[in-house]
Amino acid sequence: MKKLNKAIDQAPSRDAFLQDVWNGLACPQQKTLPCKWLYDALGSRLFEAITVLDEYYPTRTETGLLGEIALEIAKMAGAHARIVELGSGAGIKVRLLLDALDHPSAYVAVDISESALSEATRSLATERPDLQILPVLADYTRPFALPRFEGRGNILGFFPGSTIGNFAPAQAIAFLTQLRRQLGRDALLLIGVDLKKDRAVLERAYDDALGVTAAFNLNLLARVNRELGGDFDLTRFRHKAIWNEAQGRIEMHLVSVAAQTVQVAGRHIEFRQDETIHTENSYKYGIDQFQRMAASAGWSARAAWTDAEDLFSLHLLQA
Ligand code: TRP
Repeated sequence: MKKLNKAIDQAPSRDAFLQDVWNGLACPQQKTLPCKWLYDALGSRLFEAITVLDEYYPTRTETGLLGEIALEIAKMAGAHARIVELGSGAGIKVRLLLDALDHPSAYVAVDISESALSEATRSLATERPDLQILPVLADYTRPFALPRFEGRGNILGFFPGSTIGNFAPAQAIAFLTQLRRQLGRDALLLIGVDLKKDRAVLERAYDDALGVTAAFNLNLLARVNRELGGDFDLTRFRHKAIWNEAQGRIEMHLVSVAAQTVQVAGRHIEFRQDETIHTENSYKYGIDQFQRMAASAGWSARAAWTDAEDLFSLHLLQA
């Protein structure tokens, strides 16, 4: 049995977190916090809870679709493919791919959450003793090094969950360009992209009745308190999700319900009543619209699939 490789540690530092918090909250027009900081150990668990909510259609729709098309993808990828997944999370979707592929030879799992990464790769290693598994603890929105991995099969990038929608379009193009260079010539990329739809469906998906998404969003402030010694009063912020039709995106905010001053590592931050911190965008794209975006990053479209209700899409691209 091959040993599970120890995670390559390129985790972002506490200082990087502090800089992002200070910079994001110093902006007078619109305070922001980068969404990658949502995923600490608790945040990753809360996100897993979101994925099983009735209102949150993306995960079950994408997983269902992937199950239907996995053999088609396997044919295009060929034998001994090597998978590189960005944001591997709990590692549920990749199992559908691994099951369909013809003797996949390697799996590189990249995630920013240490706990999610080690739990997911450890259980996969016991299920698939012959698979070369390489965990990489990294913030993949910044340049990071991929490990060398053995084998000669095609490289198949895997970026599910419509996480590409969490970048602004210009950043998405820059990211896809960087990824194309990293994965190399002729690499394939299987990428999940959420489609535009009714405002009510979208807003419910990002503001569920049980309040899990609200807790997920608020955990960002709790994390600032835990790790940076902040004094955010979580009862004085509330979660808000709105569909911005003009920009084609769901916006997530934390609204200050009162005028207040918050302290983070010695700096004071003023909030007006109803002022918001913009924590996340989730852009939605039509099929053609996304293919054009991918093309401007040097990826050509090999195939695209949607579910029967046209909620979600999966694209296969080639570098
Ligand atoms: N990639 C997911 C999405 O855009 C991330 C996500 C889901 C998310 N729900 C969220 C991010 C709530 C922040 C808040 O759908």
